[in-house]
Amino acid sequence: MSTLHPTPEAIALAVAALRRGECIGLPTETVYGLAADARNPEAVRRVFALKGRPADHPLIVHLPSRHFLGPFARDIPDHAWALAEHFWPGPLTLVLAREFDVPTEVTGGQDTIAVRVPAHPVAQAVLHAFNGGLAAPSANRFGRISPTTAVHVRAEFDESVLPIILDGGPCEVGIESTIVDCSGGSPRILRPGMIDRAAIEDVIGPLADADPAGPRVPGALEKHYAPRTPLVLLPRAALGDGPGRGRVLAIGELPLGLPGLSLPADPTGYARGLYAALRSLDAARVDEIRVEQLPPGADWDAIRDRLHRAAAGSG
Ligand code: TXA
Ligand code: MG
Repeated sequence: MSTLHPTPEAIALAVAALRRGECIGLPTETVYGLAADARNPEAVRRVFALKGRPADHPLIVHLPSRHFLGPFARDIPDHAWALAEHFWPGPLTLVLAREFDVPTEVTGGQDTIAVRVPAHPVAQAVLHAFNGGLAAPSANRFGRISPTTAVHVRAEFDESVLPIILDGGPCEVGIESTIVDCSGGSPRILRPGMIDRAAIEDVIGPLADADPAGPRVPGALEKHYAPRTPLVLLPRAALGDGPGRGRVLAIGELPLGLPGLSLPADPTGYARGLYAALRSLDAARVDEIRVEQLPPGADWDAIRDRLHRAAAGSG
């Protein structure tokens, strides 16, 4: 068993493993997930153990479609249904009041549950064949960079601990889903993503501002998405200045004579390539990763969020 092309046979193997309570590596359009049967407490505990994730940090349950919400969430408000109808399948996670019999392992003991319907065709195929909910955090060790290819997942978990990874190619979106809390009061964004505030407000009207005392979101920890190499954000003109050996992550063209990588100058292309670029710069074992500061503007906000956390947690 190993990294599998997502043939019908491989998908059947993956679903059989999930039914036995095993974890699999699953592609989604945002990042790869480490998926397990959301109804099987032992399987969910294994996800936490593999990731090294504290037990009180809840997981997102992935569903085949919004028609599967019933057994997981209750008292679903109209604005949550509107978001589900508009953005699912897609990179949006909703936090809702949880149904009473959802294993507490999944929700980290909270009375809410995070749910999303992923758009990736392989995730869709697995979920429909499984015909239920899959708890799936990003398939990285706790606090590290999320994986956006099957090779990244294999670098985190070898075959002895994760026999099956479905290879769905590089992730289209590249950073984790937007999380909107619809569990009570006015909805608000808990984690920014490529579905931005304006797109959400177009569907349901003005959102409340984030509440710093709200539910615990590990994505909201300062240190997260972090390379081992110290990472600093610098204006373009200063990218060549730092001490020691550095590698640059530039926007558009790489400045002449500087070693490193560049990403597209549009947020969609930049997000898609970001985690692979950070992984490869991290692997270069230099003294510093020097990331060009992002342009202003709300369409860069989700990427800005990930880079600030990467800087805070790096080294
Ligand atoms: O794009 C994504 O969302 C990816 C793919 C695999 O779907 N998943 C992902 O999962 O990013 P993870 O576990 O790395 O992040 C899940 C986030 C965490 O920040 C967690 O705190 C939050 O969702 N979360 C889960 N349940 C919650 C709840 N009941 N209330 C508030 N936040 C919750
Ligand atoms: Mg994660």
